[in-house]
Amino acid sequence: MSITDNKKPATRVDTHIATTFPADFLWGAATASYQIEGATYEDGRGPSIWDQFAATPGKVHQGDNGDVAADHYHRMPEDVALMAKLGLNAYRFSIAWPRILPQGTGTVNERGLDFYDRLVDALLARGITPLVTLYHWDLPLALHEQGGWLNRHTAFAFADYAEVVVQRLGDRVDWWTTLNEPWCSAYLGYGIGVHAPGIRDQQSAYGAAHHLLLAHGLALPRLRAHTRRQAQLGITLNLTPVYAANDHLETLRAVELADKMSNRWFLDPIFRGTYPEGLFADAGVAPPSIQDGDLAIIATPIDLLGINNYSRSLVRARVEGNGAADTTSTLYEQVAAGAGSSYTEMGWEVYPQALSDVLVRVHRDYAPRAIAVTENGAAFADQWDGSDNVSDLQRVRYIHEHIQALEQALAQGVPLRGYFVWSLLDNFEWAEGYSKRFGIVYIDYPTQRRIVKESGRWYAAFIAAQRRQQAS
Ligand code: FCB
Repeated sequence: MSITDNKKPATRVDTHIATTFPADFLWGAATASYQIEGATYEDGRGPSIWDQFAATPGKVHQGDNGDVAADHYHRMPEDVALMAKLGLNAYRFSIAWPRILPQGTGTVNERGLDFYDRLVDALLARGITPLVTLYHWDLPLALHEQGGWLNRHTAFAFADYAEVVVQRLGDRVDWWTTLNEPWCSAYLGYGIGVHAPGIRDQQSAYGAAHHLLLAHGLALPRLRAHTRRQAQLGITLNLTPVYAANDHLETLRAVELADKMSNRWFLDPIFRGTYPEGLFADAGVAPPSIQDGDLAIIATPIDLLGINNYSRSLVRARVEGNGAADTTSTLYEQVAAGAGSSYTEMGWEVYPQALSDVLVRVHRDYAPRAIAVTENGAAFADQWDGSDNVSDLQRVRYIHEHIQALEQALAQGVPLRGYFVWSLLDNFEWAEGYSKRFGIVYIDYPTQRRIVKESGRWYAAFIAAQRRQQAS
């Protein structure tokens, strides 16, 4: 039975999108190793900072961890078959560094490489283009014990690891990103400690960020050396456009600051080889230790910028006496959108225009050669009644509206190459554990049964409609 000939109507919501996207546009879904694989102790994998963080009481919702997750390590062939059934022509996944180098450096674990080798072959056999992320937050614990991202050596260790992977997969994989969302690794992991490794120190966030950026730049030539001519190499950033909550003059300054601290902190060094002016002073930290030549390495040209976007941020100048909810800045604060706005289970406002705005802005200000939306999606409180469907019409609408935002960006000349829904499967949502479901496929964790949600059916129907439009 195909996805679309189920008795229930495949889509109760329109799949119509006026634009025919380019025939080679990547329509995919994304996942990350620690969030779906499980099998954390198998085939020689070493421990990561997330294993340790999750094992620390009070860090992750209900003490959840990635030991089983969506059991993808064992169910990989079934999951690839599911992608094919949905008609995806691309899949973004990450490689677990501790599977490849259990100690972070040194001895290579061939069984770890074998797993991704099989995954890539399975994808290619189904006509699904792999997009590899080399680092989606599961740093080998052994490296953390030597300082993790606060240690400059970790950047060099990452480049060595990247080379090990690309030597195995570079003959077949053309789409590579070094890091996923270094802002999260640095700020959430080292600044406010809500992610692994749980350090709460502003100064550390900026030091970690610099080494992450350096790791990215150092890895690029290593990737280039072992990939095909058509390879697209880059990085994925989480970018959230910032809007003014009111028209006060000091709010404009707040917008500029928030943009600098969430977006330009990473965009400027990568595309311009400089940190934004005043970044460190505004953050109240000393500049990190930057060695001669670092910024040139960080600004090594990339082919592809991956953008993850879920929502927007609405800010105003901090009202005197309001304590900072987080330590982002004592100068601005986030404001909730007004009545009539809707929110996902993460508490993130649904605001599709943010996606077209951020794409157009990045194109205008930084002109990457190519852009892919490497994550976009929503958590809702899905209920499964034991049938073969999960009704998640809010997610259908969310994805539909965000694809419409892509149309707008394309119409404005953004060199957009692909779109990846976060996520293919429900999975371990970091500090939120399994309490938040982002999948277009539902996971019944006790049985590991996969049930395609209405949003998965919608996306499949949409992709099929695109194919028909292209053919006609
Ligand atoms: C992003 C992460 C991804 C997932 C989504 C919801 O920040 O890259 O792993 O957790 O958020």
